[in-house]
Amino acid sequence: MTRRGSMETVRVLELYSGIGGMHYALKESGVPAQVVAAVDINTMANQIYKHNFPDTPLWNKSIEGLTLEDLTALSVDMVMMSPPCQPFTRIGLQGDVSDPRTKSFLHILHLLPRLHRLPRFILLENVKGFETSTARDRLG
Ligand SMILES: C[S@@+](CC[C@H](N)C(=O)[O-])C[C@H]1O[C@@H](n2cnc3c(N)ncnc32)[C@H](O)[C@@H]1O
Repeated sequence: MTRRGSMETVRVLELYSGIGGMHYALKESGVPAQVVAAVDINTMANQIYKHNFPDTPLWNKSIEGLTLEDLTALSVDMVMMSPPCQPFTRIGLQGDVSDPRTKSFLHILHLLPRLHRLPRFILLENVKGFETSTARDRLG
């Protein structure tokens, strides 16, 4: 039984986890949370993530390969993510949704609304320019 007013542990999926900057910020925030899975395709970053958060299950794979079943099984309350910023940054070509680096983000945006149990929170970090992009519009 949980006490009224006490905070439940938030189950978190960390996408584009890199070396774990968002995980670190979450920890610092003091919010009772558990990162139940972190996903990144970069093996070098993943080695550092493992060093920083050895107890977190880390999936060394592309986010484009995640399935609805994967997400359902994780049953998360929160998704935190920092997708690649190159498609949006002012010093880039601003390819937005036509940049192949946005594909995995669009894949996630396709899956999330199809979950039977929706996450309560989405934390997304990106650069100036993202907020006016088509990709941002797709987020809703
Ligand atoms: C902006 S960085 C994230 C930085 C991270 N918050 C950190 O603290 O290190 C974007 C990350 O997305 C990863 N990434 C890009 N495309 C991916 C994909 N399709 N699947 C999984 N990871 C991907 C990159 O390897 C990179 O680590």
